[in-house]
Amino acid sequence: MSEPEILLEVKNLKKHFPIYRGVFKRIVGYVKAVDGVSFTIRSGETVGLVGESGCGKTTVGRMVMGAYRPTSGEIWFKPPNGEPPVDLASVDSRRMKALRPHIQMVFQDPFASLNPRMTIREIIAEPLVVNKIARGKELERRVRESIEMVGLQTHHLSRYPHAFSGGQRQRISIARAMGLFPSLVVADEPTSALDVSVQAQIVNLALDIQSRFGLAYLFISHDLGLIRHFSSRVVVMYVGHVMEYAPAESLFKRPRHPYTEALLSNVPTTRPNLLGRKIILRGEPADPANPPPGCPFHTRCLYVQDICREVMPSLEEIEPEHKSACHFAGTLDLTGCDALGCVL
Ligand SMILES: Nc1ncnc2c1ncn2[C@@H]1O[C@H](COP(=O)(O)OP(=O)(O)OP(=O)(O)O)[C@@H](O)[C@H]1O
Ligand SMILES: [Mg+2]
Repeated sequence: MSEPEILLEVKNLKKHFPIYRGVFKRIVGYVKAVDGVSFTIRSGETVGLVGESGCGKTTVGRMVMGAYRPTSGEIWFKPPNGEPPVDLASVDSRRMKALRPHIQMVFQDPFASLNPRMTIREIIAEPLVVNKIARGKELERRVRESIEMVGLQTHHLSRYPHAFSGGQRQRISIARAMGLFPSLVVADEPTSALDVSVQAQIVNLALDIQSRFGLAYLFISHDLGLIRHFSSRVVVMYVGHVMEYAPAESLFKRPRHPYTEALLSNVPTTRPNLLGRKIILRGEPADPANPPPGCPFHTRCLYVQDICREVMPSLEEIEPEHKSACHFAGTLDLTGCDALGCVL
């Protein structure tokens, strides 16, 4: 069988936010929130994006959906109508407007992301109206179809967001995003504000919609269990850089970066892990406004050597499709989930 086509290709993407000081708002530095990230998403697949708070996950998601202009880099997106890929990083605003319906975002906080003054009908209809996709009877039909798709009922449409639970609100956010039949949805921690039982429902709903409509997800989460369950491939980020990028099974079974090993060792276990301990990540993640020289992870790495303090490792393929940005990726014998006894 041939591989599904590449839907999105992110190349060396950077976002540096200026830091201003003083009354004249002089630029005194940059927060290098995203500093050279590359990955691809194939049609219909889920790519998980994981890493500690502040590593740049949301910033990547916002650039992909066109909410931030990258400082540099490329974001090649294949439109669904058979046209050649377009670089969203350099496209003009008119073209971006035409492409926007194809890439939607579902946010972490279902309480903040729905306008409290709008009915559910208006909330779901808005993007269809703004993008001139439907009106009149066709609009009402699409709105009803969307609300039913997420397991709510048409009589909910005349209510306001305050009348719904967190899980229901997240369903409404999903209905709003899916109404446009996007080919890519950026889901930024879509379940982390919800109870565990509701989380599973939302994840299953997202999987169900994916199998019916064949859309792809960029799934941002710090929950490795969800990432493993949900993703075919995983990008591990640390301080604006990709540390590891691999098929999910391979990454969880045999991580090739010490940072990934440390993240896995901190997942709760059902049995004593063979490593016999958690890898405690010392200190805080490096400051993206003032990253250390060499490998950004070297200040916390258990396996640090002199070269790591000086030379930034590039992301290299260690085995087919499995890439790591560690000088010692090929020689370190790191411990994966099975040996750690992770509950994932
Ligand atoms: N608009 C902005 N202006 C300046 N700095 C920003 C801006 N947005 C994000 N940052 C900084 O960029 C870095 C990455 O932030 P980002 O929100 O992308 O991280 P994240 O991985 O999504 O974290 P979390 O898991 O907490 O959501 C952080 O240091 C953050 O403070
Ligand atoms: Mg975030």
